[in-house]
Amino acid sequence: PLLGTYYYKCMINIKRLKTRYNMKAQPEAVHGKNSTLFPTFEQMITFRQHQAKRTALVKIETTDIAKDAEKFCNVYGKVLNTFVYCTKTGKNFLLVEYKTQDDVENLKRISVHMHSTGAVNVITPLLSYKLQHGIPVKHNNSSSTEYNKYLYTSFTVPPFTKIVQTLKQEKNVSRQMVLLYETLKVTDLDVRLRFFTAHQISFYLSKLFTNISVVPFGSSVNGFGQLGCDLDLLCRIENNKAGSKIVWKKLTFLSQRLSLIERNEQKEFLQTISTIIEACIPGMSNIKKVLEARVPILKFFNGNTNMMCDLSCTNMVALYMSELLFIYAELDSRVKPLVCTIRTWARNRNLTKETSGHWITNFSLTLLIIFYLQTKNILPSLCLIESITEENIKSQILKPFSWFKKWKKSIGKGNTENLHELLRGFFEYYSIFDFNTQAICIREGIIKAKKNNSPLYIHNIFDTTLNVSKNVTVVELSRLINNFQSALQILDSSEEDIIIKLIKLEPYASQTEGTFKTIFLNGESHDNKQNENNSDMNDLKCINDEMLTNEGNTNVHE
Ligand code: GTP
Ligand code: MG
Repeated sequence: PLLGTYYYKCMINIKRLKTRYNMKAQPEAVHGKNSTLFPTFEQMITFRQHQAKRTALVKIETTDIAKDAEKFCNVYGKVLNTFVYCTKTGKNFLLVEYKTQDDVENLKRISVHMHSTGAVNVITPLLSYKLQHGIPVKHNNSSSTEYNKYLYTSFTVPPFTKIVQTLKQEKNVSRQMVLLYETLKVTDLDVRLRFFTAHQISFYLSKLFTNISVVPFGSSVNGFGQLGCDLDLLCRIENNKAGSKIVWKKLTFLSQRLSLIERNEQKEFLQTISTIIEACIPGMSNIKKVLEARVPILKFFNGNTNMMCDLSCTNMVALYMSELLFIYAELDSRVKPLVCTIRTWARNRNLTKETSGHWITNFSLTLLIIFYLQTKNILPSLCLIESITEENIKSQILKPFSWFKKWKKSIGKGNTENLHELLRGFFEYYSIFDFNTQAICIREGIIKAKKNNSPLYIHNIFDTTLNVSKNVTVVELSRLINNFQSALQILDSSEEDIIIKLIKLEPYASQTEGTFKTIFLNGESHDNKQNENNSDMNDLKCINDEMLTNEGNTNVHE
């Protein structure tokens, strides 16, 4: 309840802040030719959810028949956008965005099941379009039906050589960082498919439950998503609308009560959902139940949309965290390219990995960057956001200027360092940071004394008694610091191709042979190889601090 109250207070302020002070998200919040401006996270989520409901995903045999399929779909409603894409396994899809949800329903109404006699017809929101004789109709006016065509490669990180080619177009390091961000950020189609996947699972759950929806969170929505990142999904219980009273009725539904608050209930629920996903949803494969992790999750691959998915239930704090990161990402245009460059650097140095374990996660790394930007007066602390908004709201001074600009002025000229300087500054800051005794607190924007001997200590923003980087071991932190130092050396010694040198893929072995002194644990040396293989941790979603209860136990195996 405490966390809830804190969250409530804080989010109310952020909402007021964004609406009253006219803080508009920048256009890149959503990409693509039809990019839209979203003043708030909630509006972005709502817009994307509605868009997913107005979307039909149609499997086509070859991309040659895409135009025919599109023409066909046009008959049943007003088509706003179409995309053609190809999956890893060579399946082709046409994504059709209609003007209304009714248009999608029209399309579904005229579709039939083509199963042989005796087979069970499963309800599905996915469609398949085939030509009777397999020959596409010739179109005279081909330019009128141009569509966006995406190969499988549009969903994956381009090969390193291609990234190098792109970066070579620019000499300036800061501009190279922006270019890298533009190259790696999730595309509009990718975001559409992420929300469509959430909608698809919601569709199945709605056949059994009246008030559960599935919503994406994490890097798919917080502005830090890169091509190929996983899709984090949350089953959210939609409570009664605020203010609506529960009226006593004589006749009610007799239903099985599922509260999903207890971990055991979540485990049982996810168990059931996994059966539904496996049996009913076309394209879902490799379903793994990771029920013994602190936050039980289901992992699966959606072959129709090319993405790994992690589904958890009612872990609302993670959604609030995504909202806060979204806001931080929008506050200053330098945040996203800086985070993107550092995340890419960390991934290519094997400091972060696709699986969870004793190493730093992208999430914790992002918090390190946000904290560094707080020390540079580029981003405010959460407490400051709260106090500024409360003060203004109390005194009713609602002038049409951004509180953020005012804050920047109040702290001096405002930081005008470019991305190159900030990148160097980040590596320098953490190369000499006293991880031995100090902890990072983003909520207050200050360094605090460490409360225990966790090697890396980052206070959870919403519950500062918890450490989000509790999983990071001495060895992994030591490796991280070594790499901060070597990155700093690259930045200081090179004149050309700095970003390319920094994000160059390095074989893991060479990274363990640290030639730089580790300023950690009073000069004690650590064998980096000792912790190289954390296979027992692999495949386990390791949510390090406690997001649901307050026990704060790091053991993902319990
Ligand atoms: P990538 O998937 O690596 O691109 O980044 P991500 O931010 O999506 O990270 P991840 O998929 O690991 O986690 C999804 C979201 O869960 C994060 O954005 C956070 O909001 C939340 N989360 C992840 N790890 C933790 C943790 O240790 N503590 C808390 N409080 N939240 C976490
Ligand atoms: Mg993620």
